[in-house]
Amino acid sequence: MFWAVGLAVFLVAAVANQDEILSPGPVNPGHEAVDCTSCHLPATGSHRQQIQANLQKFMAGENTDAPFHSEPVDNSACEDCHDRKMEDRHPAFRFKEPRFKEARASVAPQYCVSCHQEHTGKRVANGGDFCGSCHREFEEGQKIKGPDHQALADQERFDTCLKCHDFHGNHRYKVPQELQDAFSKEAVLYYLDDGPSPFGDDKIHADREQ
Ligand code: HEC
Ligand code: HEC
Ligand code: HEC
Ligand code: HEC
Ligand code: HEC
Repeated sequence: MFWAVGLAVFLVAAVANQDEILSPGPVNPGHEAVDCTSCHLPATGSHRQQIQANLQKFMAGENTDAPFHSEPVDNSACEDCHDRKMEDRHPAFRFKEPRFKEARASVAPQYCVSCHQEHTGKRVANGGDFCGSCHREFEEGQKIKGPDHQALADQERFDTCLKCHDFHGNHRYKVPQELQDAFSKEAVLYYLDDGPSPFGDDKIHADREQ
């Protein structure tokens, strides 16, 4: 741990251009041209001050838990470029409400990076079958067009949800009505990894390159 911090401090001090620091993993699909500093905002205080403060602690054998080269990446960095203008079907900020306590413990849906872990080379790094942490009860008598949703939930078929629904509701496409017309499991998993979107390219809100 100390060695990792020491090495990171050394690298930050040694190279002026942050792009030259070894990234901890492959960039995620779509982020090839995104600057490191778009997500890693410099922490308060100059680099030199941070490095000195951390080096002193490091030499003294103390835990250097002060942020040194950047602040933790929070939703606002992502929302700068991925702004859905409050129309997101699952807006991350909403999941701070008390009723989502259980979901917070299992999926942490209040943070973009819970599902979109960066430096994994994957679009979505958590399998995408987490819908059941919120959608288990469909109101009785509520007639949803499409498959019997309560039956799917009762059978724990949460792997089927993304075969018909996108998560954020940012694609214009026709939602399949029947399971036999749904997107294939392979197409969905390929998309969650780094393949093309089964929901198509027609997005309601575009992604900003900044
Ligand atoms: C799209 C946003 C994004 C971009 C672009 C990005 N990162 Fe990261 N990076 C993250 C996230 C999220 C983490 C996980 C830790 C966190 O939340 O702070 C992380 C972690 C890291 C870490 C591990 C240390 C730490 O702060 O936890 C390093 C080192 C790092 N990134 C370097 C880079 C470099 C170098 C680049 C450019 C080649 C880069 N990153 C581009 C989002 C990004
Ligand atoms: C500087 C702008 C910028 C920042 C900051 C940024 N992104 Fe992106 N992101 C983009 C662009 C541009 C694309 C490519 C969109 C495309 O290919 O249509 C993209 C692609 C993506 C994709 C794949 C989209 C798709 O349809 O294939 C996801 C998921 C994503 N970003 C999530 C995030 C998350 C989470 C964060 C914060 C940790 C973040 N982005 C930060 C600009 C940004
Ligand atoms: C609970 C998991 C989860 C969280 C939290 C989450 N996403 Fe996603 N995201 C997904 C899944 C699953 C997909 C693939 C399905 C789709 O395209 O909607 C996706 C797709 C995307 C895409 C590509 C499709 C599109 O909507 O343009 C972008 C960009 C994106 N997410 C950005 C974000 C940002 C920014 C945040 C935080 C404000 C965030 N996501 C939070 C699960 C999540
Ligand atoms: C953290 C909780 C949570 C998770 C996880 C979650 N949802 Fe939702 N979802 C909601 C809430 C809250 C609503 C809004 C319901 C309302 O307004 O009555 C919603 C609404 C929806 C809607 C209806 C949107 C509309 O426009 O009427 C669909 C479809 C949906 N979710 C699909 C999914 C799918 C697919 C997944 C998994 C990939 C998922 N949800 C995961 C909480 C969640
Ligand atoms: C075969 C396709 C299909 C599958 C699989 C599917 N849905 Fe749906 N779902 C639909 C259709 C069609 C509607 C009707 C509304 C629409 O057109 O978006 C709908 C509506 C919904 C709604 C909105 C209900 C309302 O109040 O209007 C939610 C929430 C939802 N689905 C969640 C889920 C979840 C969670 C799963 C996984 C267990 C799932 N769906 C699986 C096709 C599907």
